[in-house]
Amino acid sequence: MQLKDRVALVTGAAHRLGKAVATALAEKGCHLVVHYGTSKKEAMQTVDELSALGVEALALPADLSRAKEIEELFSRLEAHFGKLDILVNSAATFQPQPHQSVSAEDWDRVMAVNLRAPFLCTQQAARLMLESRRQEDPPGLVVNMVDLSAVSAWPGYVQHGVSKAGLLHLTRIGARELAPGVRVNAILPGAVLPPPGLDADGMEWRRMGETLPVGRTGEPSQVGMTAVFLARNDFITGDVIFVDGGEHLLGAGHRRAARES
Ligand SMILES: NC(=O)c1ccc[n+]([C@@H]2O[C@H](COP(=O)([O-])OP(=O)(O)OC[C@H]3O[C@@H](n4cnc5c(N)ncnc54)[C@H](OP(=O)(O)O)[C@@H]3O)[C@@H](O)[C@H]2O)c1
Repeated sequence: MQLKDRVALVTGAAHRLGKAVATALAEKGCHLVVHYGTSKKEAMQTVDELSALGVEALALPADLSRAKEIEELFSRLEAHFGKLDILVNSAATFQPQPHQSVSAEDWDRVMAVNLRAPFLCTQQAARLMLESRRQEDPPGLVVNMVDLSAVSAWPGYVQHGVSKAGLLHLTRIGARELAPGVRVNAILPGAVLPPPGLDADGMEWRRMGETLPVGRTGEPSQVGMTAVFLARNDFITGDVIFVDGGEHLLGAGHRRAARES
């Protein structure tokens, strides 16, 4: 897919990794819907930065745990742009919680944002992509952001890990069922951005990087360039690309062992 003048929606794009993906797409000429939940100020700043790249950018809010707000998000997107070419499901929660303390409400809250919302967004996106698609157009693209908890069993992240494993499977099912008009892929980033509270220049993050096969941590832009690659290569669907410096080769207890060494 040529990216100039395509329309992309990135959820959770006000800051951090979602912003990096939105920026990478905008740098290639995509117009952007910058979805945000609570970070309005950061979303407006992101819109200014993307607009300065010469594309049209629009910030739209939605609490993704509410199906109605997802519908409204897509209605507003459709009213403004009239079409959608790329959806990146980046918004997510990420909070550890011991297995035995997870209530039904805790479970539902994480599933609603990390799994149900990407599903509902994909439904809406596929509708728009298929409705506006002419025979000669390339397929639309959905990119789901997962993490290593989708493929290995992290203690302390039961509902998070199950939600990301579900999202990975949703990627494969969507890729089959929505083909040939929509491709669905996943990106699995590793240590590309320290969690809030940890400094990117700090010792702990640097030491984490040294334990990886590539010997260093990565950058958010490397996730952005992967989204661009997936958008450009129309022959990839149902796949997941690990952008983790080889961390998936090391096993589930790797980070904890690295912290305690
Ligand atoms: N950071 C990493 O190193 C890393 C590694 C592997 C995978 N990933 C995956 O990559 C994606 C982005 O990572 P990140 O670190 O940038 O994520 P993040 O900062 O934890 O969250 C991204 C955004 O999700 C939005 N969000 C959360 N709950 C929401 C809700 N109910 N409604 C609407 N928006 C909601 C928040 O938007 P507002 O701030 O506007 O409320 C937040 O900015 C996630 O799917 C994550 O699992 C990240």
